[in-house]
Formats: sequence, C-alpha cells, structure tokens
Amino acid sequence: MNKLIEKLKKEHLLTREELIELLKDDSINEELYKAADEVRDKTLGNEVHLRGLIEFTNICKRNCMYCGLRRDNKIIKRYRLTEEEILDFAEKAVSYGYRTLVLQGGEDPYFTVERLVPLIKKIKALGVAITLSIGERSLEEYKAFKEAGADRFLLRIETTDKELYEKLDPGMSHENRKQCLRDLRTAGYEVGSGALVGLPGQTIESLADDLLYFKELDADMLGIGPFIPNEETPLKDCKTGDFHLALKMMALIRLLLPDINIPATTAMETLDKNGRTIALQCGANVVMPNVTEGEYRALYKLYPGKICIGDTPAHCRGCVTGKIRAINRVVSDGYGFRDNGSGPKKRDENGKRVE
Ligand code: 5AD
Ligand code: SF4
Ligand code: FES
Repeated sequence: MNKLIEKLKKEHLLTREELIELLKDDSINEELYKAADEVRDKTLGNEVHLRGLIEFTNICKRNCMYCGLRRDNKIIKRYRLTEEEILDFAEKAVSYGYRTLVLQGGEDPYFTVERLVPLIKKIKALGVAITLSIGERSLEEYKAFKEAGADRFLLRIETTDKELYEKLDPGMSHENRKQCLRDLRTAGYEVGSGALVGLPGQTIESLADDLLYFKELDADMLGIGPFIPNEETPLKDCKTGDFHLALKMMALIRLLLPDINIPATTAMETLDKNGRTIALQCGANVVMPNVTEGEYRALYKLYPGKICIGDTPAHCRGCVTGKIRAINRVVSDGYGFRDNGSGPKKRDENGKRVE
C-alpha cells in the first residue's frame, strides 16, 4: 500500500506536504477511495443517514461570485416559503421517515430571530433533529436558534485561501467566517463546514490547507462539492471543478476525521449520474434528499443541472433508498449525531471534545 495512505489510515494525520503529494498523485486514487471506504465501514458501519432538505428561501443579501442566488442575479425568480408551507413540508418529510430536517436558505434578512425561533420550535415538536444552513449570524442569534431546538449548523468555509475567499465573496470577511464557526461551537451546535473544489484560482496547496483547517476545527460534518459554473453569475465562463479531485478531498477527510458525518453531495451527482453512489463508496455516510415541493426546487438554483428539480419528495425518498440498498448499505433509523448519542459531545473552553 502507498506509505502515506497507510500512515493516514493509522494516524489520521499527515503534514501539508504529504497531503499535497496525495492530492497531486492520481495514480493512488483507487487505493485512497478504498482506504476511505474501509475506514467508514470500520468506524460507522453500513448505515446511511438521510437528512430531508427544505430550501425555504432563495433570497440572499450576499453576492458570492459563484452562486446563482447572489443578490446581483436579476434573472432568477425569488421566493420565500411561508411558515405554513415550511411546516407542511416538514410534516410530510417526517411522514416519509426523515429523522433530521435541514432548513437551508440564502442569507435572507426577513428571517429574524423573532420569525425563526417559533418556527424551529414547531418543527422540533415533530420529533426530529434540526440542522440550520442560513449563513452568518451573531453569536446571540446562533444561541437563540440553538435554544429553540436547532441541533446542527452547516456553514461552509468554501476555501481557506483568504485572498481567494474575499475576491469570490465580495464584502465578506474570511476572519468573520472563521469567527462564526467558532461561535457555532460556543453555542453548542454540531458544526458542519466544507469547501468548494475547483474554484477559479484555487490551488492544490490551498486544498491541503482546507483539509488541515477541517482537522483543526474538528468539524462534525463536512460537505465537499465541485464548483459548477452558473451562467447567471460572473464566473459563467470558468472551468467546472474536477469530480475526482472533489472525491479525493472527501476521501481524505474521511481518513483525517474517521467518525464524522460526510454527505454524498447533490453537486457530485450533477457531474456524474452515479455521483452520490460513488461518494458513498469513497467515505460518505449521509445523503440529503430534497423535501421541498413544486417549482421551488428549480428556483433554488445555486448552479445549473441540479438533480431532482422535477421530482416529488416521495419519489426522491424511494430513489435514494434504492441507491443505498443497491450497494448493500442500510438507511439508519437514528438521528445520526456524530457520537451516535442524543446530542453534541461535550467540549472544553477551547472547543476540544472531552470524552
Ligand atoms: N457550484 C457548486 N456549489 C455551489 N454553491 C454555491 N454556488 C455553487 C456552484 N456554482 C455551494 C456553496 C454553498 C452551498 C449552499 O452551495 O458551497 O455553501
Ligand atoms: Fe448567498 Fe450562500 Fe449563495 Fe453566497 S453561497 S450568494 S451566501 S446563498
Ligand atoms: Fe431525487 Fe433520485 S434523489 S430522483
């Protein structure tokens, strides 16, 4: 076996130079995928956790250069679900057997603490774990949502290259992004982050830095997606991210952080029709099927070619179960917290986990 993969499998750590070597060497890809699959199996077994995704607003005050929801995109039709619609989708998702619901949206200022807290409480009363994916907020707001019943929070760092980040996310501060991730920890969430792979100007060296940052953060969930150029954004003529490089990042994450939750992302399936199945066999253990209904699916257009835009939540539920069974895995009936227990692990004042 490749010496570095062997070391990674045993010690779950490599130096920056070693990570760069693995990222650059495509002759080791199959071995790397196999190692990630083995570590996933040994650490977490064959269960796959499903998270029902509600895309509740495509309105965003930010202007990220890569994203179709950016505020300067005047072509896209905007929507914001009502509380009734969100609750209706949540109830239906529960009836399909989802144990976690993800509330994802652009950074929409309409959803204040006053509006979101009652909604979170009502969803929580359905007996599910709640993940929020609503961008940068203050520590006070994060605490209020946590207290209302939210368990987890997804906030991708996108890239740890500060200069690239601030160029691609104009008006946003990389320092504040990292502060938000620390604040989420302080507020007691299971913390999810992740990166885009293949952004214009992104280097292999900076991808290695992303990996080291995730390890240092000790993220509980990490989602990796290839960059897909969107014709309604300034990056429309840029190159699409490489599927295998994204897959390698995911596999390396599994080897660095054996027990965390890693989704097989929708963007992977956009680039390869078996993308999520492949990802599940290279380290991933989570799938996030869409439970939003009707035309909203197509309107939540971060990038083109998004899967499932014409499908119903019931259809996607069956489709995903079929894909999971086809590779001899099973759909979990638990909540799928990182520690298999009832909630986030205890942490000391520096954010390190205490056993
Ligand atoms: N290609 C792939 N992923 C994208 N995202 C936004 N725009 C794109 C794109 N063009 C991802 C970002 C964000 C998540 C919600 O969607 O990583 O965090
Ligand atoms: Fe808004 Fe997120 Fe898209 Fe940036 S990536 S424009 S914050 S929805
Ligand atoms: Fe939506 Fe397969 S997950 S159709």
